[in-house]
Amino acid sequence: MRRMGELVVARTVDYLATLPDQPSCGEVHDEGVVRAMREPAPEEGTPLEALLDPLFDEWIPRSFNTAKSGYLAYIPGGGVYPAALADFIAAGTNRFTGVWMAAPALVQLEANVLDWLRDWMGFPQGTAGLFTTGGSMAMFNAICCARERHLGPEIRRGTIYVSSQAHHCIEKAAKLAGIHHDRVRTIPCDDDFRMRVDPLAAAIAADRAAGLTPFMVFSTAGTTNTGAVDPIEAVADLAAREGLWHHVDGAYGGCFHLVPELRPLLHGLPRADSLTLDPHKGLFLPYGTGALLVRDGSALRALHSSTAGYLPPNQDEFYDPAQFGPELSRGFPGLRLWLAFKLFGAARYRAALAEKRVLALEAAEALRQVPGLVLDAPPQLSLLAFHLAGPALPTLAAQNAATQALHERVTARGDVMITGCTVDGRVLARICVLSFRTRRRDIGIAVRQIAEEAAILTRDAPSPA
Ligand SMILES: Cc1ncc(COP(=O)(O)O)c(C=O)c1O
Repeated sequence: MRRMGELVVARTVDYLATLPDQPSCGEVHDEGVVRAMREPAPEEGTPLEALLDPLFDEWIPRSFNTAKSGYLAYIPGGGVYPAALADFIAAGTNRFTGVWMAAPALVQLEANVLDWLRDWMGFPQGTAGLFTTGGSMAMFNAICCARERHLGPEIRRGTIYVSSQAHHCIEKAAKLAGIHHDRVRTIPCDDDFRMRVDPLAAAIAADRAAGLTPFMVFSTAGTTNTGAVDPIEAVADLAAREGLWHHVDGAYGGCFHLVPELRPLLHGLPRADSLTLDPHKGLFLPYGTGALLVRDGSALRALHSSTAGYLPPNQDEFYDPAQFGPELSRGFPGLRLWLAFKLFGAARYRAALAEKRVLALEAAEALRQVPGLVLDAPPQLSLLAFHLAGPALPTLAAQNAATQALHERVTARGDVMITGCTVDGRVLARICVLSFRTRRRDIGIAVRQIAEEAAILTRDAPSPA
């Protein structure tokens, strides 16, 4: 066992130590290699080394390099190393944390972490939390909670409200929760990509007039496309007036609430009825770490509480995962957060998050100076979006093609990875600074390479001879 462990640690640490030399995006287009991997279930075992070699040498490199400091694509995370050790302990000791009685001290560690998240987000005592595998599943549980509270069995009458920039997982989660697409209203955004409150109020009124039951509205604390923070406070006011459940999607941006100086950017967030967090983004944990906070914890418990003759009776004093979430047997997700928070401390987290915002502001400032580059979305948190324009790109189609080429060409150079998105027919390139490994040097490289590629892509085409 020791030898196997040493082999795995050695390969993993070597991998992490060589990140600076690895490309920001590996070869992900070779479908032939992937097809060639299909194989029948093994009848006999294979020595560990023979399995680790292709894993580390061939398959892991064929991916977006989400661990690299130059990863500025989508919404970065990173995956701090101690979290991997926590997973090793959790799997190695394999304790059952589904019900409190089976491992009360371990469940208390998870309860502590949920309380820390509650306090960092400014939620009150009485809030209940749930670890999920990610933001999508947090959203699903939140919708079920609001649906139970407001609709009971009258599901078809209920309508929900999202902005045109809300994450698509909400609509997906709504369907899982029995709220079909014809009951999801999409509210337009303003020029800064934030949900507009007047059309929201009008949509709620129209649904009421049609005999429907508006019951839930979503604001986003940092959209995926442009990093926009909705007017959370105004939506909270409206939700309170109308008696709607207000959910804030903080999957990307919620983590910035840890930093007291940045809290004004997320004004109103602590008023939410429920909040999605994605510690695998802004708290730098590995993928598979999401969380939900529900202000009235009794609503979360009412949704999930259950028992069986073979289980210990439910109790009220201690947090009990199966009473607050849909799973019974589960892993021990809280340990990775607990170990990381205890090892590093909240102060280092706050400093890292504050640094990510400063780096994004610096990137925006530098990119403003790049000829032909239009900054569509300066950072509201740590994400910025831009496109190329200029005399050589007279049409939207030409600008879209150039902007697409811009992020692809920068990524192909291998130092940083940036991606794009399409908003109202316009292609935007975007930078999101959130990996704990990203430093000023990476931003300098990104800006320089974007400027170089922009100069090529916006150069006037040579006139025909
Ligand atoms: C704003 C936002 N909400 C929700 C999600 C979905 O979260 P997850 O991928 O963890 O399910 C994402 C994912 O990128 C996101 O950026």
